[in-house]
Amino acid sequence: MEDKKLIFSGIQPTGTFTLGNYIGAVRNWGPLQDEYNCIYCVVDMHAITVKQDPVKLRQNTMNSYALLMACGIDVEKSILFIQSHVKTHAELSWILGCNTQFGELSRMTQFKDKSKKHADDVNSGLFTYPVLMAADILAYNADLVPVGVDQKQHLELARNIAQRFNQRYGDFFTLPEPYISEIGAKVMSLQDPTKKMSKSDENPNAVILILDDKDTIIRKFKRAVTDSDAEVCYREGKDGINNLMTIYSSVTGKDFASIESEFSGKGYGDFKLAVGEAVADHLEPVRTEFARLIADKAYLKKCYTEGAEKALRYSQRIVSKVYRKVGFVDRT
Ligand code: TRP
Repeated sequence: MEDKKLIFSGIQPTGTFTLGNYIGAVRNWGPLQDEYNCIYCVVDMHAITVKQDPVKLRQNTMNSYALLMACGIDVEKSILFIQSHVKTHAELSWILGCNTQFGELSRMTQFKDKSKKHADDVNSGLFTYPVLMAADILAYNADLVPVGVDQKQHLELARNIAQRFNQRYGDFFTLPEPYISEIGAKVMSLQDPTKKMSKSDENPNAVILILDDKDTIIRKFKRAVTDSDAEVCYREGKDGINNLMTIYSSVTGKDFASIESEFSGKGYGDFKLAVGEAVADHLEPVRTEFARLIADKAYLKKCYTEGAEKALRYSQRIVSKVYRKVGFVDRT
């Protein structure tokens, strides 16, 4: 790889992403590939910290992998792989776990939230989840990690673990920094625009999935919650319209002023229809490319096998050095 900064990110194998994941994150990963060396990983090992149906997990992992490719991740430019295929993650995770305090993990807000939500299964994997995430990042000595706000605390912990290891065993790990994209906008629920758009929303009309077909997308936008005046303009208190304008702007590239003039004198009905059509048209090539990829299992397999080989080669060098540093006897 050339001498560029290294970006690492992982994404949960949920099978499909929301428009929020897409606009806020995944869409911006493609363009990063020219400026940085990029490594992207579908984190199936993280997924099993909560109960998963095995058949669905396998399917969702494949779908997520194909979807990342359909969204512009180029397996020639970047390393794209499935976490469980690369054993160094689990290996490093053990060592990092021995350098992480129980108290630190107990303070993770996501652990507290998830142990409430899954009170019948507070397993130790859920507790050590952030250690595995630190291993994902540190196994490559990544410089930058694109994460949303919900993962900032975990990234902070990864830095602390790296720092502690460096103090104990001598400078070794790069301290990873969050990568905050200037572009990605935050997309809110179509039914309650004060809440983030989330795949787990009970109301399916609140969420656009990037594999939704055109009619579904248009129907959901038609039902989007707005307000009782009738002016398309970006203003405090008009959360619904602000959200639609943000979405429209990010798929068309138009700024708010030109959107306001485009729809001045027109009703919300026209505006919602235009947003729906623009989103559906924008996502059309992603859907088409996804359908092509998911039908070609042999090609997908070739991609993820090669991705895993590259990831293993890269991370093995680093993890072998870690083994030496902690005092394990050389195997060969
Ligand atoms: N925990 C992240 C999430 O839920 C996913 C993830 C796993 C990740 N390993 C990572 C993100 C490493 C960035 C870097 O979204």
